[in-house]
Amino acid sequence: MAKAKPKPTTQSPKRVIYPGTFDPITNGHVDMIKRSLEAFDEVIVLVAHSLKKKPVFDAKVRKKLIEDCFKNDSRVRVEIYDGLLADYARKHNIHAVLRGLRVVSDFEYEFQMATMNRKMNPNLQTFFLMASDNFFFVNSTLVKEVFSHGGSVKDLVPPHVEKKMREVLC
Ligand code: COA
Repeated sequence: MAKAKPKPTTQSPKRVIYPGTFDPITNGHVDMIKRSLEAFDEVIVLVAHSLKKKPVFDAKVRKKLIEDCFKNDSRVRVEIYDGLLADYARKHNIHAVLRGLRVVSDFEYEFQMATMNRKMNPNLQTFFLMASDNFFFVNSTLVKEVFSHGGSVKDLVPPHVEKKMREVLC
């Protein structure tokens, strides 16, 4: 007897939001996005607003810098958003948020944010991905700091980001 054909799956794509300030995107963020695509079908990188930050790069520039990292990958979409993450997720019917954990001290703040986001939107789950060994010490502020004192950021940001830093910060 012929085997029954497997039923075509009608599952909707697994989408995740990766929110952040991205001022600018670093190789640590790029690594996080690439690795998340092993678990999710689409990543929406959300250039979001943080009350405690005054970004150096304009939001449109930050968006373009991220897009240029993933030019050939239609699974990565970038958007600028200045509202609540919980509302964005609800509006777009997305149930997953991705955040990176680099060091133990990240945990407390991330735990608070994840809990607050879940309180505002109970359908929203936060997924944490450990940063790769090469990037656990990287953050956007340090990259800008090193660069503005003449240090090399070659291994920390993609080449087009370094070029933009030269234009804006020099
Ligand atoms: N590699 C490299 N750097 C990383 C990293 C990684 N894997 N993961 C985090 N970082 C860095 C970031 O570059 C950032 O560096 P900086 O402080 O030098 O800019 C830092 O670690 C993380 O900063 P943090 O303030 O924790 O987060 P963020 O700036 O990335 O984003 C938002 C915070 C935007 C996600 C948060 O403010 C938000 O959700 N805003 C939307 C409004 C909202 O809903 N607020 C309520 C939240 S409960």
